Amino acid sequence: MAKMQSRFFCKECGYESSKWLGQCPGCHIWNSFVEEPLKNKTVSKTAPFKGQSNGITKPVRIEEIDLTEEDRMLTGFQELDRVLGGGIVAGSLVLLGGDPGIGKSTILLEVARNLTEGGDKSALYVSGEESLKQIRIRAQRITEIHGDLRFLSETNIERIIEIAQEYKPDFVVIDSIQTMFTESISSTPGSVGQIRESAAALLRFSKETGTSVFVIGHVTKDGNVAGPKILEHMVDAVLYFQGENGGSLRILYGQKNRFGSTNEIAVFEMTDKGLKEVSNPSEMLLSGRPLGVSGSVVTCGMEGTRPVLIEIQGLAVPTSFGLPRRTSNGADYNRVNLLLAIIERRIGLPMSKYDAYINIAGGIRVTEPATDLAIVMSLISSLRDMPIPADCIIFGEVGLTGEVRAVSNTDKRIEEAVRLGFHKILFPAWHAEKYSEFKNKGIDMFPVKNIREALTIMSK
Ligand code: TYD
Ligand code: MG
Repeated sequence: MAKMQSRFFCKECGYESSKWLGQCPGCHIWNSFVEEPLKNKTVSKTAPFKGQSNGITKPVRIEEIDLTEEDRMLTGFQELDRVLGGGIVAGSLVLLGGDPGIGKSTILLEVARNLTEGGDKSALYVSGEESLKQIRIRAQRITEIHGDLRFLSETNIERIIEIAQEYKPDFVVIDSIQTMFTESISSTPGSVGQIRESAAALLRFSKETGTSVFVIGHVTKDGNVAGPKILEHMVDAVLYFQGENGGSLRILYGQKNRFGSTNEIAVFEMTDKGLKEVSNPSEMLLSGRPLGVSGSVVTCGMEGTRPVLIEIQGLAVPTSFGLPRRTSNGADYNRVNLLLAIIERRIGLPMSKYDAYINIAGGIRVTEPATDLAIVMSLISSLRDMPIPADCIIFGEVGLTGEVRAVSNTDKRIEEAVRLGFHKILFPAWHAEKYSEFKNKGIDMFPVKNIREALTIMSK
């Protein structure tokens, strides 16, 4: 059989095909296929890594596998360490994706600085995007760098690996994988084949030498890392850096992590002196909250294992057109519509004659049904011009019959609210007696079974 000399790849998702296709079967994007030459000797995706196999080529029993804890380096950001599962694992390859200008280069420069500050670790920051001068200007904005941190402006992967083998850093940053190219194939940088092969070379380097490598990746317009999907399969962890347009708040979360959970988030704030971690997001999200104004309600959502207090703002105004307007910023639009219908049917308020707007302050997105009751109360509060007490926290899922349903981590949510000085807690009645201890601490506990009960309590 004749050997195929080239293949077609989708630029967006990396879908591979032997012929050109108009629409990608993988991501359904039109006109995204490009032809790329196949190199003669494909580096097998399953090529063994010397470092990983430890020279053992025979199968072993589970108890024979060495269980010593992985070596972890602390990044100097407790928030980031938590997302990584307790620091950077030696020999791991981590992909960091995010929109342009969100702060990917900044955060990894700060991590490299923190790691080398103690004097016992060294780092290499390779940029294919910026000149050394630009990097220096950025570094000057952040702080002075004293440790063994070296910079390199280079895009040739073979050369980078050669230099890294010479300097033996503990930590390497590759800014960005899309600008890198390997000599082993002839396509242009940023192409699917180049990204895949460059990442494969970095993976081999990191596993063989035990060096931790962080790779920055650009994202496509739908928010995934650009390039082949296999990139995400190759690396040990995929992190995303997100932020609201114009806002200074940045959220880092793990989408895949072989060494920890993917439920954790890290919150950062972009300042004029680089990124600062926000170890207490609740306080930050609630700062500047209007007090004693109708429509503003504080709820407690869970971000991973951590409770976070969030302000929900609702606005209901009589509609001037036949069809009411509904806008939701930060909460699911369909869910808000559903809640409006429930209010209309179960409480009898004429929501269909009102325009309704929901806004979650701070650029946070809530996806949990546990915020339902707070959304309902903020809309009713606005419609009736009835302020909710400023020291009241509201959470619970709302069902179609208007019932308030139990949510997970009720105890953690209450504790966070009490810690931040909230005295009234409106929460699902299910197993409410479990939380009676809070009453002894002077907290008013209001377990509710349905939204009507919640309204009655709040109108008192
Ligand atoms: P950058 O890390 O270059 O983003 P990315 O690598 O994700 O594209 O961050 C660039 C943005 O951050 C830029 O708009 C300026 C801003 N910034 C600050 O506000 N303060 C700072 O100290 C630094 C270094 C950048
Ligand atoms: Mg950058």
